[in-house]
Amino acid sequence: MELAPRSCRMPLLLLLLGLSTGAVISWPTEEGKEVWDYVTVRKDAHMFWWLYYATSPSKNFSELPLVMWLQGGPGGSSTGFGNFEEIGPLDRDLKPRRTTWAIQQGTIQCNFAGVALGDSWISPIDSVLSWGPYLYSMSLLDDQGLAEVSQAAEQVLDAINKRLYKEATELWEKAEMVIEQNTDGVNFYNILTKTSPTSTMKSSLEFTQSHTVHLFQRHVRHLQQDALSQLMNGPIRKKLKIIPEDCSWGGQAASVFLNMEGDFMKPVISIVDELLEAGVNVTVYNGQLDLIVDTMGQEAWVRKLEWAELPKFSQLKWKPLYSDPKTSETSAFVKSHKNLAFYWILRAGHMVPSDQGDMALQMMRLVTQQE
Ligand SMILES: *[C@@H]1O[C@H](CO)[C@@H](O)[C@H](O)[C@H]1NC(C)=O
Ligand SMILES: *[C@@H]1O[C@H](CO)[C@@H](O)[C@H](O)[C@H]1NC(C)=O
Repeated sequence: MELAPRSCRMPLLLLLLGLSTGAVISWPTEEGKEVWDYVTVRKDAHMFWWLYYATSPSKNFSELPLVMWLQGGPGGSSTGFGNFEEIGPLDRDLKPRRTTWAIQQGTIQCNFAGVALGDSWISPIDSVLSWGPYLYSMSLLDDQGLAEVSQAAEQVLDAINKRLYKEATELWEKAEMVIEQNTDGVNFYNILTKTSPTSTMKSSLEFTQSHTVHLFQRHVRHLQQDALSQLMNGPIRKKLKIIPEDCSWGGQAASVFLNMEGDFMKPVISIVDELLEAGVNVTVYNGQLDLIVDTMGQEAWVRKLEWAELPKFSQLKWKPLYSDPKTSETSAFVKSHKNLAFYWILRAGHMVPSDQGDMALQMMRLVTQQE
């Protein structure tokens, strides 16, 4: 769980879904239980984790996969946002989520089977360069706007080429402002949904630079919905019992983001290449309506992989997927070759499981081979 950046140091956040049988913790023995605790990462750095394991009519937990969920941001809360807004067993109103991923369970003493990269920030410049064409094709920019957005994106490219990464982060933010001005304030996480302005969010975070205030307005506000804050700092805090007095929950840690400003615009395509080379299964999935990490940008960095099997992957034709077998409505497309799979998730924004829970769950089952 991610806790308030001002009053305590909780730099990382983690939500694990599944049952673990690690030696350190004594695990509950009945099904359907959950466990949570802090783990000390290094001096003064504590990471909160929360594990769910759930009922499976036919299989023991030791036969099922463990799913580990790491929120992006950088600095977003897995145990708050990912848990209650995306994939946990309960939603923000504490109602059971029909499409929870916690129906899967597994063990920590397991083979590392793969990673899934969901709307992930792998090659920032490929995202930024595709913003203009994507918005233009969706009738969210006119010619004039496209020219302005493209120009702003070129400035980001220039900074990245010079390896001026902190400057690139500032220019990235400037490019977003150009987009806002030209699109009447498009929502970067789902271009078909308008963000509703809220005024109460600023209070829990400290900012030193004015550009960060804008950044917060655009990227943090939606994560820090009042209802979720109230839930986390109210009933959930009471339930967990172990949250220190001086810590309160926040959906997004500004301090985490600020500390990573210099890393934020660096590409990590080579790390994906290393995973592929090592034989790790890599699943890339992306929401069609996400702007901040649009699908065009994801396809652009995939084309840059040095993986020897890439030409074969690229030659494949995608296959349609249907989350409801009774309808013929296409929910996604998938392409898969050896240890790389790519899912185009339709009608979803940045938070795929929030927007298309059924499709996300079906994909998770395919990826973990539970069907
Ligand atoms: C489930 O697996 C664990 C670990 O292998 C084992 O200790 C336990 O007895 C198993 N439970 C059942 C019901 O088979
Ligand atoms: C990796 O993916 C391939 C192809 O889908 C599958 O056959 C294989 O079992 C997967 N490996 C693991 C460890 O899940």
